[in-house]
Amino acid sequence: MNNKNAATINTNASLNREELLALEATYCSWGDTVHYAKNPNIFKRSEGIFLYDDEDTEFLDLQMWYSAGNFGYKNQRINDSLKRQIDTLPQLACQYLHKEKILLAANLSRRMERTWETKGRVHFNVGGSAAIEDSMKVIRNHTGKNLVFAFMGGYHGRTLGATSITSSYRYRERYGHFSDRAVFIPYPYCFRCPYDKKRDHCDMHCLKQFDRLFETEYHTVCNPKTRNCECAAFYVEAIQGTGGYIIPPRDYFVGLKEILDRNNVMMVDDEIQMGFFRTGKFWAIEHFNVIPDVVVFGKAMTNGLNPLSGIWAKEKLISPAVFPAGSTHATFSSNSLGTTVGLEVMKLIEESDFATQIPKKGEYFISRFKQLQKRYPQIGNVDGLGLALSIEMCQKDGYTPNRELTDAMMNIGLSGQLTAGGKKRGLILDVGGYYKNIFTLAPSFYIEEREIDLAIELFEETLKKGIQETA
Ligand SMILES: Cc1ncc(COP(=O)(O)O)c(C=O)c1O
Repeated sequence: MNNKNAATINTNASLNREELLALEATYCSWGDTVHYAKNPNIFKRSEGIFLYDDEDTEFLDLQMWYSAGNFGYKNQRINDSLKRQIDTLPQLACQYLHKEKILLAANLSRRMERTWETKGRVHFNVGGSAAIEDSMKVIRNHTGKNLVFAFMGGYHGRTLGATSITSSYRYRERYGHFSDRAVFIPYPYCFRCPYDKKRDHCDMHCLKQFDRLFETEYHTVCNPKTRNCECAAFYVEAIQGTGGYIIPPRDYFVGLKEILDRNNVMMVDDEIQMGFFRTGKFWAIEHFNVIPDVVVFGKAMTNGLNPLSGIWAKEKLISPAVFPAGSTHATFSSNSLGTTVGLEVMKLIEESDFATQIPKKGEYFISRFKQLQKRYPQIGNVDGLGLALSIEMCQKDGYTPNRELTDAMMNIGLSGQLTAGGKKRGLILDVGGYYKNIFTLAPSFYIEEREIDLAIELFEETLKKGIQETA
């Protein structure tokens, strides 16, 4: 029914949490992920590793905006670069050039040149999914093929193109037929091996199974006589993000790349969540000694400030001769605020020693979680690389996924009703995994040892309450 009295809301009036939540319930789409939580909170400010709600309750954030806020909330240096740019060149149509775009593209490309001795170029966009779409264009343009391989458990975003290569059927379920859906391959998730093998003596059975696809045309993807594969590329996350921060065996990707090279299939490395040092190296794929053909990135490039994403591709895929002006474009693609912040993030990385600090902090975090695991069999698996930490919640048998407990803990953390050090607190946890039973933890790179101890104390309180609630 039309409501002719639907007056504009006075945004200067102080509305309390209940009034705001009532407006949200009426006017905000629930199609995003806010209502994964039972009782969404409203946050007012942030600082370092903490978020604060309107009662000033302090929430220790262990997920930092799914790894977009790697360098901490309100990072002074990064924020100042944004403020300076607002007063200099805050807007510029992406059809024109500005210095920061050029320097950021050059610095990213030069980093690849140093690491991989490979020349390439960078193309910017705004969100991760949009950059994935651009990478798909680059691959299609080069090969004339639509199809690609991607991993089960992989996540590449929710635009239509990105959804077609994202494994979860739930994300496609209501959007019709995806004729160019990826060919999904099991990922080496060793704690729950898709082939029921044990890592110690599996002899990389999963790679052998993948290799068998290319043996005969009757395995559906390849003509072995011509080595022509129906899939142009394999989209990989070196560490699966939404899939649960799952870490493959160290020699997996070398084996995979060898099979791909033999069959003329390219590798696209999605670093949107794990890039910019989350794992202790600039790109997560650097742990695995392979050189991808295309890298896609976003999130932490601007520490979650003005959105910016991008792709890097080898010269032969993206040179002006093959990818000319207008091949792809978005109004906000290389926006001056985002590129300025991105450049500052690059400088900060060059001047920091994240390669030493992040593994050290990650190891300490894991050792503390392993201590907890000894007392709580519900913590089935603890793993991590750098500060990408995976805590898998199970039934008492330490194996059967326990989604109920995981959800309960997430909601308890978010309620802000925990106490540590005589203070009311909250804990921000993010849930991922194939069975939605894994805490995918991405703390700030600046988290200190005493704050890790606090995080463990809060996690234990959350766990105890969660066990009681779900008993
Ligand atoms: C690995 C990966 N790829 C792609 C995306 C999509 O990025 P965006 O949400 O910015 O579109 C995400 C987002 O979580 C991601 O983790």
